[in-house]
Amino acid sequence: MTTVAKIFETMEYGPAPESAAPALEWLKQHDNGRFGHYIGGRWVAPSDGQYFETINPATKAVLARVAQGSKADVDAAVAAATAAGPGWAGLPAHARARYLYALAREVQRHARLLAVLESLDNGKPIRETRDLDIPLVVRHFYHHAGWAQLRDTEFPGSVPVGVVGQIIPWNFPLLMVAWKVAPALAAGNTVILKPAEFTPLTALCFAEIAQAANLPPGVLNVITGDGSTGKHLVEHPDVHKIAFTGSTEVGRIIRKATAGSGKKLTLELGGKSPFIVFEDADLDSVVEGVVDAIWFNQGQVCCAGSRLLVQEGVADRLTQKLRARMEKLRVGSPLDKAVDMGAIVAPVQLERIRGLVDQGVQEGAKMWQPSWACPTEGYFYPPTLFTDVSPAATIAQVEIFGPVLVSMTFRTPAEAVQLANNTPYGLAASVWSENINLALDVAPKLKAGVVWINCTNLFDAAAGFGGYRESGFGREGGREGMYEYLKTEWDGGRGTGEGYTAPKPASAPETTRPPSPVPLPPIDRTYKLFIGGKQVRPDQGYSRKIVGPDGRTLGEVAEGNRKDVRNAVEAAHAASGWGPGGGSGHLRAQILYYIAENLATRADEFAARVGRAELDASVARLFTYAAWADKWDGAVHHTPIRGVTLAMNEPVGVLGIAAPDEFPLLGFVSLVAPAIAVGNTVIVVPSEPQPIAATEFYSVLETSDVPDGVINVITGAKDALAKVLAEHDDVEGVWYFGNAAGVKAVELASAANMKRTWATAQRRDWLDSRQGEGREFLRRASEVKNIWIPYGE
Ligand code: NAI
Repeated sequence: MTTVAKIFETMEYGPAPESAAPALEWLKQHDNGRFGHYIGGRWVAPSDGQYFETINPATKAVLARVAQGSKADVDAAVAAATAAGPGWAGLPAHARARYLYALAREVQRHARLLAVLESLDNGKPIRETRDLDIPLVVRHFYHHAGWAQLRDTEFPGSVPVGVVGQIIPWNFPLLMVAWKVAPALAAGNTVILKPAEFTPLTALCFAEIAQAANLPPGVLNVITGDGSTGKHLVEHPDVHKIAFTGSTEVGRIIRKATAGSGKKLTLELGGKSPFIVFEDADLDSVVEGVVDAIWFNQGQVCCAGSRLLVQEGVADRLTQKLRARMEKLRVGSPLDKAVDMGAIVAPVQLERIRGLVDQGVQEGAKMWQPSWACPTEGYFYPPTLFTDVSPAATIAQVEIFGPVLVSMTFRTPAEAVQLANNTPYGLAASVWSENINLALDVAPKLKAGVVWINCTNLFDAAAGFGGYRESGFGREGGREGMYEYLKTEWDGGRGTGEGYTAPKPASAPETTRPPSPVPLPPIDRTYKLFIGGKQVRPDQGYSRKIVGPDGRTLGEVAEGNRKDVRNAVEAAHAASGWGPGGGSGHLRAQILYYIAENLATRADEFAARVGRAELDASVARLFTYAAWADKWDGAVHHTPIRGVTLAMNEPVGVLGIAAPDEFPLLGFVSLVAPAIAVGNTVIVVPSEPQPIAATEFYSVLETSDVPDGVINVITGAKDALAKVLAEHDDVEGVWYFGNAAGVKAVELASAANMKRTWATAQRRDWLDSRQGEGREFLRRASEVKNIWIPYGE
């Protein structure tokens, strides 16, 4: 018999199981564990009668059978969401806020059932579902009840996108439901949600909760199934937006599938996030931080701190401390409240982890696991630490998505930043140092959407979450998350712009030069490219003739090619000091004013070319963005930590811009000015039929103190050049204003490195300041980085 004295001696944990009974009973009540889809407010059987099993990964027991969604099921769900759209969008904001509030309350009421169900279906410890997943779900709905209430006043001029398809992964099943559904409904959209095939149960339970909250039928639809169900949803023509969280591989497929469709898209993809430890860090806190970074949720976290970068002097000491802590971690039944790590979600994931760990060993890294063994009845994997890892090793580059930490060392802060940024991803990062100056100096240099200082894996509905680079684009949570579910009102939802003719500028362009009193032979003019602050000849030496509407030759412009684009990209990168790292908003404002001043000095000449109205609007637009350059502030979020969360607007980086063909000067200025005001550097392809307003603009730039390489201009075949820009790995974003085929080509090509695109065939009246300028442009030019800074001793 165990005596109290013995327990004191061994300090063994006793079992502390949470009962599975209520969740198993709930499953039984539903047709003995068989679930259909939730469509139009009703439970419906799959059209072709197919079901698949979902299992408990800790025991391999079958929990339930759920419907496999077919194309017909997706069609039915889209029809239900479409029918419910006008009614839901037409409700007063306050009514939608009440529904979201009711959802928060209902989830809270069922917190225990949901926590247990989630642990059973996913294998994650009940401690996490009970204390983290479900409370964060509740918080998300409350927060978005607020955005629903404030929608009309805080997002004036915006309307819901329409019918939204949402595809989510298995690692945070219900939390991902909340992240997707709450902002979509708050903005006034209707939803078809597809949970992951490994973990559909809490989403189905949530559908029932929505029913209990009297959410109008069709506003939320849940269809279950595998990737093929997701594919039908992505390809459905009546879906206006896709929001996806999952692997980069599938994200890329979706980017390609939606290219040119006019569908709005957000992708939250994988990561290989750095966890940077400087030698002055509190190493005991670091150890607990690492536990939360990589052993939380069995390491199946997109933003897991999976790459430990340690300053050389403390590396050995930290390794010793980590091993001691790992020895004490407890892997076991997810329903045991004293367990740290549960089961891996599915055998396929377990195999993947094993395969990558084997590869790490083969590539020469040193692997360490604790001495104890994992339970064998389910899919368990022990916490694992690799040392002696080379930065180029497979395990240092590939997302393992399991409890496997790889560790590397660095000497200087600059080296730490270089190592941290040395993957194609950019989701999150964690910085540990007792020197706040150092930590805050490093944070902006990291390519990551979230940076945690002396903390890790903190989330809150008020702080946007999302990545840079191949970790995807768009943000979830906060104000920026709401924008992902809204569109501007002025175009009446035309989307592709087909059949819309932009109004012409007041006077006809490029043909209205005052006639010369004496007929003079024209001076032969060939405009060059503008790269790195210089007018340069094109690589191949070709030029193209530009002819006015009356057939008169207006001049020749250089024919840029791939090589010219490459040179321009290099020049744009060399000018990166223009952004917040080097320049200030004040400096950028001064230079934008100076450009405006120099353009105004040559007003008559430009007005003769493009018309007075367009010239005047161009000068005014430069003033608008000079005004914004030192006012595009971020925010300080009230997240529930003792500390602050800074949301900083950062430039996207190097932007490729294909300007509209119409409004040759104003279109050019309206895109370049916001981009550089935020701190981006740009490569611009001006109007293809009327490029001369832009090439004449070179000399305005040359006299306005614009640093070399900040603005580069390549004339020539717009669509071909835009595609080259979209394909270029060192271009971080592309804006394209042209035709439907060009939009598709740009969106397709951008999938390679997941660059952010703003590609549209929609015409706009650039003279109208509501359409041609403002926050929409500044938002497109920015990435929001959230930096979490706890304080207190
Ligand atoms: P996945 O990306 O295949 O699955 C995510 C969701 O996408 C699921 O709902 C799935 O049914 C759906 N889906 C799959 N193929 C689709 C398609 N062609 N069109 C539309 N929807 C589709 O992720 P999977 O296979 O479950 O995990 C593989 C790896 O992905 C993991 O090892 C991990 O590296 C990564 N991953 C990353 C996540 C993250 O949060 N960033 C989450 C889940 C997985």
